[in-house]
Amino acid sequence: MAFNRSIKIAPSILSADFANFGQEIQAIESEGCDWVHVDVMDGHFVPNLTFGPPAVAAFRPHVKTVMDVHLMIAPVDQYIDAYAQAGADVITAHLEATTHPHRTLQAIRNAGAKAGLALNPGTGIGDIEYLLDMVDLFCIMTVNPGFGGQKFIHSQIDKVKKLRAMIGDRPIHIEIDGGITTETAPLMAAAGADVLVAGSAVFKGGSVDNPSVYGRNIKAIREAAEGVL
Ligand code: DX5
Ligand code: ZN
Repeated sequence: MAFNRSIKIAPSILSADFANFGQEIQAIESEGCDWVHVDVMDGHFVPNLTFGPPAVAAFRPHVKTVMDVHLMIAPVDQYIDAYAQAGADVITAHLEATTHPHRTLQAIRNAGAKAGLALNPGTGIGDIEYLLDMVDLFCIMTVNPGFGGQKFIHSQIDKVKKLRAMIGDRPIHIEIDGGITTETAPLMAAAGADVLVAGSAVFKGGSVDNPSVYGRNIKAIREAAEGVL
């Protein structure tokens, strides 16, 4: 995974057809997505339940781009190896889900994945200065985690601008997760984000039998974001 800061669209399969993940993944990739965002939820850290390591391993053969696994679970350290073995290219843990974030990020890298750190809307960037050398990606939540289709939280724009300044020219992605649409994508691209997760805005109106809608949605979000750069 060579680093570049070009805009990447990462559809979240939380908004996909739960009876057809293989076909849905193939559809979004053939329709031009850059990454595939997999939302793992444990019903404890967030009030929803989704994919264990076996499910993620079943997705893996269908993912030809980057499998970006977002762990909304606590505790998190004991599951890192299992999701890495399931084939995750990027494993993102929540700062709020670990007492020792430096060790958690070390464990992700030791497991062979790129290390992501997610911050919930209420979490500031005051405690991450000494983690910058351990992180390959920051995931800034622009909704409270647990569900797709929620409203974008605009206060996070300022957080991204400050984070972008803090990162400087380090090879660290800024990923935005939640409520990304053609309206909000340019706000975050202008603030310095490069990876845009979108669930409902990509999957709405399409299906495995009508994947060109996914392509139109992905293209519209990408053009809206690139239009401000
Ligand atoms: C929320 C997840 C997001 C969500 C995005 O907890 O982390 O990835 O699926 O869905 P939309 O784009 O519909 O907000
Ligand atoms: Zn997510």
